[in-house]
Amino acid sequence: MTGVTLTNTIKKYGDIQTIHDVNLQIDDGEFCVFVGPSGCGKSTLLRMVAGLEDTTSGHIHIGNRDVTKVDAAERGVAMVFQSYALYPHMTVEENMGFGLKMNGHPKAEIREKVAEASRILKLDDYLKRKPKALSGGQRQRVAIGRAIVRGPEVFLFDEPLSNLDAELRVDMRVEIARLHKEIGATMIYVTHDQVEAMTLADKIVVLRAGRVEQVGKPMELYNDPDNRFVAGFIGSPGMNFVDGIVRGGKIVIASFGNREIETSVALPAEGKAVIVGLRPQNIMVGPGDVATLELRERLGAVAYDHLICPDGAKIIVETRGEDALEEGATVSLDFADQDVFVFDAENEARLR
Ligand SMILES: Nc1ncnc2c1ncn2[C@@H]1O[C@H](COP(=O)(O)OP(=O)(O)OP(=O)(O)O)[C@@H](O)[C@H]1O
Ligand SMILES: [Mg+2]
Repeated sequence: MTGVTLTNTIKKYGDIQTIHDVNLQIDDGEFCVFVGPSGCGKSTLLRMVAGLEDTTSGHIHIGNRDVTKVDAAERGVAMVFQSYALYPHMTVEENMGFGLKMNGHPKAEIREKVAEASRILKLDDYLKRKPKALSGGQRQRVAIGRAIVRGPEVFLFDEPLSNLDAELRVDMRVEIARLHKEIGATMIYVTHDQVEAMTLADKIVVLRAGRVEQVGKPMELYNDPDNRFVAGFIGSPGMNFVDGIVRGGKIVIASFGNREIETSVALPAEGKAVIVGLRPQNIMVGPGDVATLELRERLGAVAYDHLICPDGAKIIVETRGEDALEEGATVSLDFADQDVFVFDAENEARLR
């Protein structure tokens, strides 16, 4: 078994604590994605698993082995970085085989392992080239190949696609998913891109300010977020949030012309504030007088309508974009009550 377990892990730089008591179980062969905004501690946590940062307290296990104090080189992990960190004077095959060569592996074995990685990553045509003669995507594939030839038990990726253009990112995302299927090793993948997280992960760990906000399968986090932060982070465009007030067992939304919502969730006391969340695709617009259509972004198959309510609240609605509404029009805003997510206004926890 080569899952990864973090138990009460804490990281402090001097007095500043950046990782707060993280507990996490990543199963053998699982594709686990750490996602969260910049500075939330994704790289730090990954580097702690790699052994590139020491762990202030708590334990890290890889399989049954406590590796908390073990050297990076002895942990059986290989890491792929955003900057490919290839040796410019070496060819693709020399780059991929270098780690094994340094560790004194026989030439025949290195050749075999490089050939296998090259086959998996479709690099056969580039083996004699130097990195400067490769595209960004090809360079990143070499960096991944270098990890593969080491035969690690756990692959660690820190934003490997961030330097690539949008189209190539999509291609490489598919490649990485395929790689995981083929190799079946445990992988931990760091990204701030929620689309990468949703599409690649078996399990997503949403981090915020060094704490785990929620762990779950992609669609679990999407359909059943524990709090406003996760609800807003997972899904693109993000969930809309408006203020509501509890009145007579219902929620009243002033921004939507005092629209009343009937709900089965456990609401706080009469007169208390709640936050109401609505996904952009669960709202319909039509001619009316609730909000103003400020801007329509047409993406092709869909459009994002940016609405502004009389009190200034802003809402994004996903539409097909083919109706007669024009920018500047006043619109109605309709949705089914059961599509609403409700959050406590004070601690932002989901009310269920
Ligand atoms: N050597 C260090 N000394 C002090 N603080 C540090 C050090 N390295 C990182 N930090 C802090 O730890 C926090 C987490 O940093 P980390 O690099 O893990 O974030 P991240 O989630 O990977 O962000 P990004 O998406 O921008 O890469 C940040 O607030 C950062 O400033
Ligand atoms: Mg980072």
